[in-house]
Amino acid sequence: MNRTWWKEAVIYQIYPRSFMDSNGDGIGDLRGITDRLDYLKYLGIDVIWMSPVYKSPNDDNGYDISDYQAIMDEFGTMEDFDELLAKAHEKGIKIVMDLVVNHTSDEHRWFLESRKSKENEYRDYYIWREGKGENMPPNNWGSCFGGSAWQYDEKTSMYYLHLFSRKQPDLNWDNPEVRSNVFNMMTWWCEKGIDGFRMDVISMISKTPDMPDGEVNGLYGDYGPYCVHGPNVHRYLQEMNEKVLSKYNIMTVGETPGVTTKLAMQYAGEDTHELNMVFQFEHVEGDGKYGKWTDERLPLTTLKRTLSRWQTELYGKAWNSLFWNNHDQPRAVSRFGDDRPQYRKTSAKMLATCLHMMQGSPYIYQGEELGMTNYPFESPADFRDIESINAYREWCESGRVPHDIFWPCITWKSRDNARTPMQWDDTEQAGFTSGTPWISVNPNYREINAKAETADKDSVFHYYKKLIALRKENPVMVYGKYELLWEESEELFVYTRTLEQESLLVVCNFTEKEVPFTLPEQFVGMPCLISNLENNYEKQDLTLRPYEAFVLRK
Ligand code: GLC
Ligand code: CA
Repeated sequence: MNRTWWKEAVIYQIYPRSFMDSNGDGIGDLRGITDRLDYLKYLGIDVIWMSPVYKSPNDDNGYDISDYQAIMDEFGTMEDFDELLAKAHEKGIKIVMDLVVNHTSDEHRWFLESRKSKENEYRDYYIWREGKGENMPPNNWGSCFGGSAWQYDEKTSMYYLHLFSRKQPDLNWDNPEVRSNVFNMMTWWCEKGIDGFRMDVISMISKTPDMPDGEVNGLYGDYGPYCVHGPNVHRYLQEMNEKVLSKYNIMTVGETPGVTTKLAMQYAGEDTHELNMVFQFEHVEGDGKYGKWTDERLPLTTLKRTLSRWQTELYGKAWNSLFWNNHDQPRAVSRFGDDRPQYRKTSAKMLATCLHMMQGSPYIYQGEELGMTNYPFESPADFRDIESINAYREWCESGRVPHDIFWPCITWKSRDNARTPMQWDDTEQAGFTSGTPWISVNPNYREINAKAETADKDSVFHYYKKLIALRKENPVMVYGKYELLWEESEELFVYTRTLEQESLLVVCNFTEKEVPFTLPEQFVGMPCLISNLENNYEKQDLTLRPYEAFVLRK
């Protein structure tokens, strides 16, 4: 297996809107990020992935881009960006940009032109089709954010495809001009000196040209088989690699919904010349009751089986990302751990241990290193996210599922859980802004905040800092082979990593129960690399306390 810097890196994801507001308008911005670089340096991360900062009307918080080569007004200017990049580089931190090229905003110049007439030179930049009849879209596909995936456009009496909101029309990647424009834009950013791209829903860029109805489960048909891993996706990524990526020493990570381990070997194979790594969702999916909405947890054995399959099948062949949460997922400690006061810190550290000891590049989502939790939503008026707002309307207000049943599900998984402001200190608005934040601060900021966490050596923050440092000193954490033990346990997640003579034993109690555990013979008496509670690991027969986690090294 090749050793590369991006396999060894720890990546920190910033959602700029909610990270740090420097000018009191309630919205996080680039200068706010620059101001907090020292905090990230102290934590020890190598790379920042920034969610989109480009010009955007913000229908989907920047994932609807109207100009790829300009900065969103609310976030600052291109000078602010250049300053951030320069300062980050001075501190040895790399910056990875979000690349959203499955779709643009409907306010992008290309789309404004495209919709003008059937003859317009940009017409074929997007995916236009005739309806099947009056008020009948070309097929039955539903969009990810509710409603049909087709929007009728009066000007030319045709429909355009939008797999996300109607303000996010899908680009037509089969048009060579679209590809060359995208590649030129990417080159422009690389020349600026950025360090990589996180590619938004990149597995969806190639569509099957004849667009048959999809299987209906819910209100609309599923576009999956026709738009996800479509016929030319690998050809287009290889072209992108040849024309742009291969020319720079950058990191690329493909957000690849629906990817399997087999497909990942193509997207992010050691020698397939596409991307460096995939970002896949199998371990955070499959729990839905109403579409993706649910209030239930997956059994631990299911979670272990999924994660372990990715560990073993990709070994030596392809590279994966490791994450519990991001800007589209609820908070890790609430979802997989236990956010009640007596267990929050311990379980947050346990989850970090479990993830950072696995193979792949770990991603920390802003605030995860503080053990930030889900938000106590009181009513649908609290939502800011287009997905949650639309889902409440489509599932609940429509009368399909009663409020009392749907409410625990949507609040458990809403993307807004992750989007509340970063909790910096215990002053008003958690020190995020001197004004009124665009989304409410979690009321628990007086206990959970960066100031308190950095001051306390026993905090979740310092535990993350230690895990990051351990990774730099222990190649076995990066390159070791993974093996799952105690497969059938619903309480313990136990595995080993092995590189040449060296082995790690990782043991995590995912429950609030005391669980007996017998150390495998070869680890008896071995030193402890890290643990989230004090214990004597020299005895062979142990009783693990709730959410206890430890790592022994042989
Ligand atoms: C990705 C992003 C998500 C966004 C969607 C559409 O899944 O992570 O936030 O809404 O793509 O761009
Ligand atoms: Ca601001």
